[in-house]
Amino acid sequence: MSMPSHGSNPKYVYEAMGIQIPNQYIDLSANINPLGPPQALSEKWKVFFKQIVDYPDPYALSLKEVIMEKEKMDHDWLLIGNGGSELITLVARFLAKKRVLIIQPTFSEYEKACRVNECDVSYFRLNEPNWELDIDRLIPLLENADAIFLCNPNNPTGILYPQSTILRLIKECKRAGCFVVLDEAFYDFVETYESSVGLCKDFSNVIVLRSMTKMFAIPGLRLGYAVTNPMIIKELSAFQSHWSVNTLALLAGEVCLQNEAFILMTQEYIAKERQKLFQFFQKEAFITSASRVNFYLLRDPKIENQKLLFRFLLEKGIVARHTFNFPGLDGNWLRFAIKSTHENERLMEVLTEWRMSHH
Ligand SMILES: Cc1ncc(COP(=O)(O)O)c(C=O)c1O
Repeated sequence: MSMPSHGSNPKYVYEAMGIQIPNQYIDLSANINPLGPPQALSEKWKVFFKQIVDYPDPYALSLKEVIMEKEKMDHDWLLIGNGGSELITLVARFLAKKRVLIIQPTFSEYEKACRVNECDVSYFRLNEPNWELDIDRLIPLLENADAIFLCNPNNPTGILYPQSTILRLIKECKRAGCFVVLDEAFYDFVETYESSVGLCKDFSNVIVLRSMTKMFAIPGLRLGYAVTNPMIIKELSAFQSHWSVNTLALLAGEVCLQNEAFILMTQEYIAKERQKLFQFFQKEAFITSASRVNFYLLRDPKIENQKLLFRFLLEKGIVARHTFNFPGLDGNWLRFAIKSTHENERLMEVLTEWRMSHH
């Protein structure tokens, strides 16, 4: 069996690695908020349940009202999707047969969705271990691209590109007649994030994608939204199946987005846990990416093949995310989510054991 192409569902990783799945394990392979879903959502759940007998509002008006308020955008600039993934699929369909440049390493669904739509896909590779976005190096490639995909903050590195860089990139793309698909699935984990949504008003080539499944820990429910100019929204929504976003997700979205305190609490918690972990990694000489969010890349410079560490962790009941399907990482790093204090401590314990066993 080949290695799974996404995190979560650890049984597939254990199977692919030929290791018996332990009774208890800690799944650090999916980047979901460990504090979620918000309490307010469970409190409303029983009431929401009663509404599954109705079809969802295909225009999602009630949720759009909340997003309009938050993003200061009109409803015709918004499209609600069945997770960020559906929006990626719709954008790829919109870009069918076009030349698409993907800034790598990044989320694998951009490429997959574009290839299905017969796009001509090429890569712009960022260099480890800083993965800096060098616009000067990128500019010459824009002439041969109709669209670029950029994830900010990026999955899997957790690196946040400065807003000045994003703005420059958008301007250069505009000049070259190139769309910028900006996936901000993890933007709300960053304490000081400057939103790019407002840029859609000034630049007709910008499409911003947001996921709500990460921050609010509802990947099983599926919810996200896209912001871009009304003409593109119209085209994207024409590809979307009717009632694509279910009633429970729409209702949950309203509760979640209005819960600003939950987002702030999460940001603070993640920053604190990340600091503890990174101090430990530094002390034990592990190398990490300069993450600003709830996951990070790690490698042990003392070994050549990181699969040894991956296997050791799995045997100890810790599931990391492999990086074999991230072009440019090719398995040389492991990605870990920041989870509960207890789970993060267990990771440090197991890594200490790894160090003590001659590594
Ligand atoms: C960068 C990025 N964008 C979008 C998604 C899709 O998220 P969802 O479909 O759960 O909203 C993911 C999921 O892992 C992701 O990592």
